Amino acid sequence: MKKIIDNIVYVGVDDNDLDLFEGQYIIPEGMAYNSYLVLDGKVAVMDSVDASKTEQWLANLDTALDGRTPDYLVMHHIEPDHSGSAAAFAAKYPEATVVASAMGLKYLSQFAPGVAFRTQAVKEGDSIDLGKGSLKFFSAPMVHWPEVMVSVYDTVLFSADAFGKFGSLGKCGYFIDEDDDWACEARRYYFNICGKYGPQVQALLKKVSAANASVIAPLHGPILRGDLKPYMDLYNTWSSYGVETEGVFVAYASIHGGTAEAAQKLADILKAKGCPKVVVSDLCRDDMAEAVEDAFRYGRMVLCASSYDAGLFTPAYNFLHTLQMKAWQKRKVALVENGTWGPTAGKVMRDMFSQMKEVTEVGNMVTIRSRMTSADIPALEALADAILA
Ligand code: FEO
Repeated sequence: MKKIIDNIVYVGVDDNDLDLFEGQYIIPEGMAYNSYLVLDGKVAVMDSVDASKTEQWLANLDTALDGRTPDYLVMHHIEPDHSGSAAAFAAKYPEATVVASAMGLKYLSQFAPGVAFRTQAVKEGDSIDLGKGSLKFFSAPMVHWPEVMVSVYDTVLFSADAFGKFGSLGKCGYFIDEDDDWACEARRYYFNICGKYGPQVQALLKKVSAANASVIAPLHGPILRGDLKPYMDLYNTWSSYGVETEGVFVAYASIHGGTAEAAQKLADILKAKGCPKVVVSDLCRDDMAEAVEDAFRYGRMVLCASSYDAGLFTPAYNFLHTLQMKAWQKRKVALVENGTWGPTAGKVMRDMFSQMKEVTEVGNMVTIRSRMTSADIPALEALADAILA
C-alpha cells in the first residue's frame, strides 16, 4: 500500500486489460482507478473503482483496513469507472454510509438500481468530522459531470477527475516528481474529457487555490505533490483556452495522398520560415484524441482536407465535429482543400469553424486540384505567411 500522508493510503487499482477508456480513448499505458483510505478516528474510503476490478479493490481495502471497518464511502463522482464497485462495497460493509452530493446519490441509484445504500448528501461548504481531521466538501459541477464534488482532508485535495491522467500507476508511477512528463497524457485526458467545461474548471481552480493543499489525489493517474504551481498553471491555461505552446498544428485528411502531400509541403514551408514548432497529424490514422489535444495546445491550425460526397472528407468532418463538441475556441485557422471536379471541403470547413467561438480564418484558402503542382507553391507560401503573421 502506498502512503499518501501519514494516515491516508492508496487502495486503487490498475486496469491494463481495458482496450478503450470511456469506449473511445486508447490507453497504451493502461488506466488507474484511484481510491484512497483515510484512517482517522473514523474511517473513510474515498471512491470505489470500475466494476471490472471490484475483487482486487476490496482485497486492497481489506489489507489496508487491517481489521478496521469503514464508516464512510465518499463518492466524489458517480461515473461507473468510480461507482462501479459501490454495490459490492455496500454488500460487504452495510453499516458504512455512502456520501455524495444529492445529485450524485440520485445517479448512484440509477447505476445501481435496487441497491439499498445507507446515504448522506453533502453540498458545498459541508464537512464531515473524522476525528483528528475533517473532510471539507466543494462542489465541482461539470468537472466532469454535474454531480461532482471534491474534498480536502488535511493537506490533501481529493480532486475527482480533475488533474487526472491516462496510464496505470504500475507503469507510470504512483507519484509525480518534478522531472516526470506529467503533461503529455494529462493534456490528452483533460481536453478530451473536460475540455468543453473550461469555465467550470476555472471556478474549481479558484476554490482549490484557497484550500492550500500540498497534495492532489485525483481519481486517475499519479498523485501530485511538491510544488503544485506548474500543474495549477497548466490547468489555468487549458481551462481558459489559452495557448500552451507556440507553433502550428497541421492536420490533414487525405483520400489518395494528394492532400497529404500538400499538407506535408506546407509543414516544410512553415519550418523553413522559422516556425518554432510544426506538428502534423493524419486524421485518418492518428489518434483522434491526440489530434484534439494538439488543436488545443497550439494557437494556430491548418486544416487540409479532401472533398467527399459533395462535402468534407469524413475524418476531417469528424475531427471538426469533435472540436465543436469540446468548445474549441480562440484560435487562428488556415484552410487547404482538395477536389478533382467540384471542391466542396473548404465551404464545409468554413461553415463549421464559423460556428466556433473566436476562431478566425487567416490567409486565402488554397485549393488543390487532385495533385499539388509547382503552380500551387506560391499560394502555400502565402498561406504559411498568413498563419505565421
Ligand atoms: Fe473518471 Fe468522469 O470519470
